[in-house]
Amino acid sequence: MCAKSKPDLDAAYALKTPEDSRRLYAAWAETYDAGFAEASDYVLPKKVAEQFVDAGGGGAVLDIGAGTGLCGQALAVLGVTQVDGTDISPEMLEVAQKKRVYSTLFTADVTLGLPVSDGHYDGVVSSGTFTNGHVGPGALDELLRVTRAGGLLALSINGVHFETWGFAQKLDALAGQIVDLRLPEIRFYGAHATGAHKDDTGYVALFRKR
Ligand SMILES: C[S@@+](CC[C@H](N)C(=O)[O-])C[C@H]1O[C@@H](n2cnc3c(N)ncnc32)[C@H](O)[C@@H]1O
Repeated sequence: MCAKSKPDLDAAYALKTPEDSRRLYAAWAETYDAGFAEASDYVLPKKVAEQFVDAGGGGAVLDIGAGTGLCGQALAVLGVTQVDGTDISPEMLEVAQKKRVYSTLFTADVTLGLPVSDGHYDGVVSSGTFTNGHVGPGALDELLRVTRAGGLLALSINGVHFETWGFAQKLDALAGQIVDLRLPEIRFYGAHATGAHKDDTGYVALFRKR
């Protein structure tokens, strides 16, 4: 991203590398909640949390690309309170920290690996991180590594990103390691959304580690 670009969804979708993400989200952290999430009626974190809980998720949970903590907040409202969060952007996690809904927050690039032992979590959630310019299907191996056998994953995947990055093929390739795969299609923004992205859709990939 050019350093002068305004931090917004178009700039986010145009990212190419983890370093681009670090730079953009450092600039976006302070205004992300009011200037983007509220202003755009961004309902995705709440929907991911609902899908996770409806599918029986709970226990010790890791939020991947936790950002400013919107998914952790939504989980807390639903009674899931043992939640850790990780993100490539320390500035986004500083905002999340103030919400006091995460047990532990740590900075990491999920594409390089997480400082977490095998099978540590009962569940993994992610909202808005498997999207254009961000994280691709290769990271699913790392998410499965940190999940215990039988643990539940609920990951939003942008619909365009799903097609262009071959998530269906990756999920097929993981068939021996996952069970109960479902892909409900959801809208990312609510009824009050306006602008070019108001009708963006995608999936919540819901599955358990075998
Ligand atoms: C659109 S924001 C979503 C934040 C939050 N989950 C939400 O729904 O509001 C995407 C997040 O993914 C993080 N991210 C991007 N690339 C990443 C990577 N390689 N590893 C970890 N986090 C990453 C960004 O820093 C950003 O906080």
